Amino acid sequence: SVELNPVILPLDWLLGTWESDEPGEGCFPTILPFRYNETLNFSHVGQPVINFMFSAFHAETKKPLHRETGFIRMEPGTNRVAFIIAQNSGLVEIEEGELTGHQLNLQTHAIGRVSFAKKPHVQQICRVFQLRPDGRLEQTVSMATDNQPLIQHLHITYHRST
Ligand code: HEM
Repeated sequence: SVELNPVILPLDWLLGTWESDEPGEGCFPTILPFRYNETLNFSHVGQPVINFMFSAFHAETKKPLHRETGFIRMEPGTNRVAFIIAQNSGLVEIEEGELTGHQLNLQTHAIGRVSFAKKPHVQQICRVFQLRPDGRLEQTVSMATDNQPLIQHLHITYHRST
């Protein structure tokens, strides 16, 4: 296996595959609450970059729902982190933020979408990843749309599967 690039060493705790424990919880003021399962994969090929792929499925019907894939970069010598993300919904996004210990706090820095994206349009996303002391990974996502202020959309925990 290729040696880890030292630039991304502070994020080595993400690497591997994670599976949701209990289904995650989805909510938003304008939708019915839902439950979902999700697999996360973080990998590297020796570059100062982490490659990731997140795949979410409806907890009851098992249907594929949301998918996002992209790259994570760090500004060398700092705790600044950038996620470069493409979502299957037609959204592309750059989120930036900071790594503090085993917690990543990210916010939308730039957003784009396909010309025929469904409304309401997402205007801002805030996300927190945290490696908990018990070894589980937790992700919380809040978003603001054209007609809703920033409020939680997703909460989920994962265990490491590889
Ligand atoms: C609804 C955005 C991740 C499942 C929505 C809506 C938006 C949105 C804008 C419509 C809200 C409204 O109508 O007011 C996002 C963004 C995500 C994300 C930006 C990631 C950052 C996920 C994930 C799942 C999911 C991981 C997991 C299955 C759903 C479901 C609905 C929904 C089931 C309601 C039904 C529907 O409108 O399709 N999401 N979402 N979303 N989202 Fe997400």
